[in-house]
Amino acid sequence: MSTDHTGKATPSGGELPPEEKRGTYAAIFGRRDVRAFHSDRIPDDVLARVLTAAHHAPSVGFMQPWDFLLVGSRSTRERVKELSDRERRAAAVFFDEPRRDKYLSMKLEGILDAPLNLCVTCDPTRGGPQVLGRNSIPETDVYSTCLAVQNLWLAARAEGVGVGWVSILRNAELRDILGIPPHVIPVAYLCLGYPEEGFSGRPLLESSGWRKRLPLASLVSYEEWGAQSHNGWAGFSTTLAPQTN
Ligand SMILES: Cc1cc2nc3c(=O)[nH]c(=O)nc-3n(C[C@H](O)[C@H](O)[C@H](O)COP(=O)(O)O)c2cc1C
Repeated sequence: MSTDHTGKATPSGGELPPEEKRGTYAAIFGRRDVRAFHSDRIPDDVLARVLTAAHHAPSVGFMQPWDFLLVGSRSTRERVKELSDRERRAAAVFFDEPRRDKYLSMKLEGILDAPLNLCVTCDPTRGGPQVLGRNSIPETDVYSTCLAVQNLWLAARAEGVGVGWVSILRNAELRDILGIPPHVIPVAYLCLGYPEEGFSGRPLLESSGWRKRLPLASLVSYEEWGAQSHNGWAGFSTTLAPQTN
């Protein structure tokens, strides 16, 4: 039996058995953005499971706005890599030294090392002009696509497959390279493959000293934006343990 924030017992009929729960959290905490890959192919059945997990993401009005464009061709990946290199150099000017040097020294994509690239797109026209629940917040179609990416990322981690998201790209040029129609939004350009050095315990941007993980307690407020304490939540706020940070 679980308890809610007041300590009252809550029904736990839907709770996963302990080993499944452990597996779920292991995938969440063990997922990493991976940028260095072996060239080994991902077996078809593994790739199919990972895409099926993505396709089972929640979506506004159940519109399922995603498409999955698999890119194995070396020459296509070379064009995307050129685009990424160009964008990376362009972005470097926005950092002052010594951060610029650090930014340029970090490996931020595995487009050519990974055996597979995958572009996850969002088609806002899927499901017709009136999508249940999207009226007030049109971006919910892109939100839904991001959830498909996260499902894919977690399922890949469970399969031992690394995923790296490359956003140092320009969508207009990516559309040209991949033949994506103008109304379809490229949401995520991903590199997939088996990681060269396993799954690190910490994000690269953390271990390299670029940025620290923020304490979870500093991001949770109670009843009103920014209120860091509240009588009704005193018990819960003390349970934000360091390992959940
Ligand atoms: C929308 C999005 C875009 C990202 N773009 C890049 C990228 O272009 N290059 C890169 O190296 N990592 C990219 N990342 C990965 C983040 O740097 C990474 O998720 C973050 O540092 C935390 O590390 P972790 O994913 O290993 O936990 C991106 C992640 C997201 C969610």
